[in-house]
Amino acid sequence: MLFNRTLLARASAVFLLGTAMLAQADTATVQAWPDRSAAVKVDAALEARVEQLLNGLSLRQKIGQMTQPEIRAITPDQVREYAIGSILNGGGGWPGNNINATPADWRALSEAFQIAALEATPGIPLIWGIDAVHGNNNVRGAVIYPHNIGLGASGNAQLVRDIGRATARAVRATGQQWAFAPTLAVVQHVRWGRTYESFGNDPALVARLGRAAVEGLQENLAQGIGVLASAKHFVGDGGTRHGTDQGITRATPEQLAKTHGAGYIATLDAGVQTVMASYSSWTDTRSATPNGKMHGNRELLTDVLKQRLAFDGLIVSDWDAIGQVPGCKNDDCVPAVLAGTDVFMVPFEWKRFIDNTLRAVQDGRIPMSRIDDAVRRILRVKLRAGLAMDGKVRETDATFATDADRALARRAVRESLVLLKHKPGLLPLPASSRVLVVGAAADNIHNQTGGWSRTWQGHETTNADFPAATSLLAALRQRLGSGNVVFDADGSREDPAKFSAVVAVLAEKPYAEMAGDIGLTSSLKHSRRYPEQLAALQRVAGRGAPVVTLLYSGRPLDVNDAANRSDAFIAAWLPGSEGAGLVDALVAPEAGKTWPGFSARLRFPWPGGPCQFSTHPDPKATGADKPWWPVGGGLSGFEKTASPAKALPEWPEPKGICPVL
Ligand code: BGC
Ligand code: BGC
Repeated sequence: MLFNRTLLARASAVFLLGTAMLAQADTATVQAWPDRSAAVKVDAALEARVEQLLNGLSLRQKIGQMTQPEIRAITPDQVREYAIGSILNGGGGWPGNNINATPADWRALSEAFQIAALEATPGIPLIWGIDAVHGNNNVRGAVIYPHNIGLGASGNAQLVRDIGRATARAVRATGQQWAFAPTLAVVQHVRWGRTYESFGNDPALVARLGRAAVEGLQENLAQGIGVLASAKHFVGDGGTRHGTDQGITRATPEQLAKTHGAGYIATLDAGVQTVMASYSSWTDTRSATPNGKMHGNRELLTDVLKQRLAFDGLIVSDWDAIGQVPGCKNDDCVPAVLAGTDVFMVPFEWKRFIDNTLRAVQDGRIPMSRIDDAVRRILRVKLRAGLAMDGKVRETDATFATDADRALARRAVRESLVLLKHKPGLLPLPASSRVLVVGAAADNIHNQTGGWSRTWQGHETTNADFPAATSLLAALRQRLGSGNVVFDADGSREDPAKFSAVVAVLAEKPYAEMAGDIGLTSSLKHSRRYPEQLAALQRVAGRGAPVVTLLYSGRPLDVNDAANRSDAFIAAWLPGSEGAGLVDALVAPEAGKTWPGFSARLRFPWPGGPCQFSTHPDPKATGADKPWWPVGGGLSGFEKTASPAKALPEWPEPKGICPVL
């Protein structure tokens, strides 16, 4: 069985002459995916131009096209010297390593790189990829939209499409042409630190919203308006055991395709031009085969994605991910080339990557046909991307963060809030309210924006790094008048009885990727990780004013103790830069306008206890394992009876570690 699979995979590689070649390996893994190959439409004129450009390149230049350094590690002169085809900036990579770089600084750097690239390879521009995962979030002054977990709760594909379009404009305005988004992970365990990058636990939802994101990002691509989108991370990133980042996903071929693959089929249908491979590994539980790291998996990258699914764009590797393939290093990985990766994200060790790959081709370890397949795809994608051939970035600051973008983000915030608890009539607070605000996060933008916001981890910033953003505190002051809003971060100074209501904010410290994983010895109990937040809430609860609590988090958490001390409880996810959207839900609108209530619903079950990590809890679960709310849960705010009717059980964390689910 294993032997046959290898043979078939080999045989299919022989046919790797171009995307029009549709020879398919016939393995269970391949058969689990729908056969899309018939859908390929070939643009003969474009393909002819691709061949012409390809034929003009030396082997060294071809490998330069396949190499993607980070802007901190390459200069425009080196782009010219090595004929580099693409660059990226990682989370927290800015022009000149300056967090305050303006959009104009970004454009200037982009032009310098582009002009150098066009001198090295006339007619072949460079593409610059950026993690614009919730707006153009690395750049000072950007409008930052809710992370995907909030957009998933909105369930609103049109909203996601609009945000994609606005993000594309903001990215073009700073000179990039490629967004490393959307994430199509279908999260199975909320221990995973990237849960917030996911729309939800339902493959159909991820497919619907992922498709909308790509449609928005890539809209008018050929006219130089949209940006290249990147469906990531192929495939199974959200399925790893215990939610361990970059871990092992155990699934049958059918589960892999139907659960984790759904977003890929949908985004390929929408014409997504790039796919990023996943750091994770796949173990086939049907045949008990550990297939290892996705970056070395030719069956999935080539036989499935490129052939069965007829993807004719490019596959990009993730940040230094090739170094994790057995036998590879960050600068040397023949297996990843053979598996089908086209662009190699080799942020720092790119020079040695070029030398090593060149040698591997010269030694015959990589066939020229594989190099040509990669470069053909790269050229095809570039020709489709409507790139300016004089290297100039046409957009201006005026298109970067518009009032309309802020209004869109504000609406997205309001549409993403899930109301978990409510005493009828409490919300909306009358516009005449005098409000006591507690919780340090109420005045801290980075708690609103989370990871991938100005920096990679998102917590190293102060409010000054987000000019034009509005915290919840600032937005409340704008709406109710400064004199009617008093801030007492730890709740120790003020007497709640003197106010019409208390607004309390709980928050997770921002995180990205593995730094956000909840380890096996920890739990979902928020007050265990942040006892000072519960303490602040305890100081003001039950003291004469109703308490409305908001939680900023990248995942659903066990908050039963906090909810019991609140009269209303809102899962606000990671809402982004527009605090006014929170106030739109909390406070009654101006006369003549109607309060919208809460339309968002849960796309992950909300835990009822500290150890409920699975996004598919046992429907028969009782006690601490029974979710507080199932998927689809949430109140509108218009209900006539209180929910929940009685206090939630406050389960202690188990002694030792949570049972492994
Ligand atoms: C992440 C990707 C991201 C890339 C570039 C990786 O660590 O997994 O999602 O696009 O870095 O910043
Ligand atoms: C970069 C991120 C990247 C990460 C990978 C960071 O230094 O800024 O973009 O995803 O490294 O480990």
